[in-house]
Amino acid sequence: MTVQQKTKKARTDTAEATASAPVNIAVIKYWGKRSEALMLPTNSSLSLTLDQDQLQSKTSVRVIADSESEDARLWLNGKEEKITGRVRNLVATMRKLRADLEAKDSSLPSLANKALHMASINNFPTAAGLASSASGLACLAVAIDAALQLNLPRPQVSALARLGSGSACRSLFGGFVAWDMGSKPDGSDSVARQVASETHWPEMCALILVASATQKEMPSTAGMQTTVETSPLLQHRISAVVPERMQSIEKAIQARDFDSFAEITMRDSNQFHAVCLDTFPPIFYLNHVSHRVISLITKYNEVKSKENGRKYTVAYTFDAGPNAVLYLLKDDVAEVLRLVNAFFPHNVAAGAASDEYYGMAKQFVHAP
Ligand code: ADP
Ligand code: DP6
Ligand code: CO
Repeated sequence: MTVQQKTKKARTDTAEATASAPVNIAVIKYWGKRSEALMLPTNSSLSLTLDQDQLQSKTSVRVIADSESEDARLWLNGKEEKITGRVRNLVATMRKLRADLEAKDSSLPSLANKALHMASINNFPTAAGLASSASGLACLAVAIDAALQLNLPRPQVSALARLGSGSACRSLFGGFVAWDMGSKPDGSDSVARQVASETHWPEMCALILVASATQKEMPSTAGMQTTVETSPLLQHRISAVVPERMQSIEKAIQARDFDSFAEITMRDSNQFHAVCLDTFPPIFYLNHVSHRVISLITKYNEVKSKENGRKYTVAYTFDAGPNAVLYLLKDDVAEVLRLVNAFFPHNVAAGAASDEYYGMAKQFVHAP
């Protein structure tokens, strides 16, 4: 069970629910939409869902019983946010599902046309390339499902979460999760699917290295739009690279082959950032701390290889931000944590916008 939820019915026509959801960090990156309206990607992707006890969004949704308008309001980390077109669409789609239920059964409390208040908190940096839109929108879809008493099956909640943010569709499942791009024009086969559960490869761990906790200048949505419009390298990536990589990494996961998993992960992160550079004007998500992390891991892997005979001990990957996620096996965590903390001491501020997080490595094992 990846996503948790609690529902409370205060009065017959009032409802509220609280849900929490984990982030997922892709090893084959989604970057580009073929349909903005249906939120369909230009390529398939694959991620690991992280342990939600450590990185999570938590969202409460309340249906306001005595409201006369269909007002929807959202507070994020204590501040009211302007509702985006996408959240509006998500809310409207879910209200419609509720209205259909109420039309069929007049004994149901009337929740479809009431105001919705949504309040969410992330316990990690928001919009900093640590997939806050994934946990945030997954959580929102689960909380609205519960508050409107829809009880939708998980694949349907995943498809609704996708309307809020593409990467969110993967956070509804634990373990290793693919989002198949699909080929049908209506998007009905563009779905998230669990490749292997959280118990399949229990030694797999993730370390999060926060190089900067500040909000990125270029949100993922806008960044990938420009990439689709301008990058010839993206066209090569989606046609000639990702399909083969999806197959190879699924095989590596099934076989628990860390060397293959690690190489594909690092190559895909590198290519995603190459595509960002190939975007015009270019997008820079990595900073010089990220580059130092890449060099350090590359050298460490070389040295360790002589010692343990494995090609790679650690794999790095970077989302749309400068913060690194390292995938590695449990037995190697203690040494890698020591290494990272020695190379990036907490009080060295070089290049870090916020030294509060600089060089802090924490251990996050994917979903329990
Ligand atoms: P990230 O790399 O963190 O996913 P994005 O640019 O993809 O960054 O998305 C960040 C945006 O996602 C935020 O500006 C906000 O609009 C939305 N978001 C993040 N967390 C939440 C949340 N918990 N609830 C609702 N929306 C959220
Ligand atoms: C680099 O899902 O944040 O994290 O669908 O526009 O909300 P929208 O974008 P988003 O993009 C995620 C990009 C990525 C890679 C990934 O998670 O697969
Ligand atoms: Co995002």
